[in-house]
Amino acid sequence: MLAYRLIERKRDGGVLARHEIRELAAAYERGDVADYQMAALLMAIVLRGLDREETIALMESMLESGARLDLSDLGVGRVDKHSTGGVGDKVSLVLAPLVSSLGVAVPMMSGRGLAHTGGTLDKLESIAGFRTELTLAEARSQLGRIGCALIGQSREIAPVDRKLYALRDATATVESIPLIAASIMSKKLAEGLTGLVLDVKRGSGAFLPDTARALELAELMVSIGKTHGVPTVALLTAMDRPLGRACGNALEVEEAIHTLHGEGPPDLIQVSYALGAEMLVLGGAASDADAARRMMEVAISSGRAAEQFRRIIEEQGGNPTVVDDPSILPQAREVELYTAPRSGIVAQVEPRAIGRGIVALGGGRTRMDDRIDHSVGFVISARPGDYVTAGEPVATVFARDMAGVAAGMAALSEALVIGDEGEIPLPLLSHRVTAAGVERIDT
Ligand code: URA
Repeated sequence: MLAYRLIERKRDGGVLARHEIRELAAAYERGDVADYQMAALLMAIVLRGLDREETIALMESMLESGARLDLSDLGVGRVDKHSTGGVGDKVSLVLAPLVSSLGVAVPMMSGRGLAHTGGTLDKLESIAGFRTELTLAEARSQLGRIGCALIGQSREIAPVDRKLYALRDATATVESIPLIAASIMSKKLAEGLTGLVLDVKRGSGAFLPDTARALELAELMVSIGKTHGVPTVALLTAMDRPLGRACGNALEVEEAIHTLHGEGPPDLIQVSYALGAEMLVLGGAASDADAARRMMEVAISSGRAAEQFRRIIEEQGGNPTVVDDPSILPQAREVELYTAPRSGIVAQVEPRAIGRGIVALGGGRTRMDDRIDHSVGFVISARPGDYVTAGEPVATVFARDMAGVAAGMAALSEALVIGDEGEIPLPLLSHRVTAAGVERIDT
């Protein structure tokens, strides 16, 4: 009866009390509320919203449904970075080893691919043997030994979010500011952090493409972090084109490894340094962003960041040789060049079409239990604003068979728009959101 009354009230634009949200979450966890009722409530929330009190009540119900990591005895700052989801976004693979090599512990809890966006766990599992399903006790002891653990949301952390997240993925109820904020923050606040950095994407490939909505999400998460004693900084970054050149699990691991060796694409380096600087300052290892940047440059040029990635991979059961020889990653059977169909200016590289193309190639899921092919994807060398001539290679498709090549070519011809005039891409980094307010940082 409780669920029915709450669905009805939210459908009609009413407000749910804190104790009602808590009771409902507990009943859902016990299995006393059916998925179809919860799905109806989620849709009512997508359409009607939640106010701040309701959002915090939902977030706390999810947080308290599980365990928390107590890392207070590590003796160093503990900072995670979380992205709201993008295409080609391999920043976590760069930052976890880079920042943890500089004296800040990084308990990084990531997710799997969702809709057209990629997931760090899927990317890491391109490395043969790499275990992402660590228990909290294992993660804790690894953090003590090497200052970093790359884990998935285990059954122990925010189990109500885990259940709701799968339901949202299947019922078109992901795109809601309060639901995204409550979901992300319930997991992040369980990690025992002393600081949190959020990469909030905007642009056509983001879950919330509109800048005003992305900013609203960023401000809500920053304020939830503050209320719960975890200083939180959010940067708005562009997702109107993929980040870097590689899109697809193993291909992105390879690009992240090149970046750790100092040979990454400029946009990936710029976003990684901006987020990494926030992590190092929040973690108490750097006095300001300029000092943090210099520390990161040295960690990369000296090989220290790459060495830390080897240690993380070894600890988690993978083959660390991959850091020196990425060719041991899964390799696609078919590799074909895509050439520009006409001369002109690249007006768009549309990330949703690329993300959907990866799913069509078998590199993402249409159902939660789908097995994915880590080897497939795209490397796209053309950037918005580039002039290209007809017949010039602008991208490569990596597929498991010729049907995959055809699907990949179709995705590229949809994604890569070449015209007589370019479109002005979004600035890579545009806003910095802290508890003190919003700052424009267009670069
Ligand atoms: N990532 C999450 O963890 N939750 C969401 O709702 C969206 C992105």
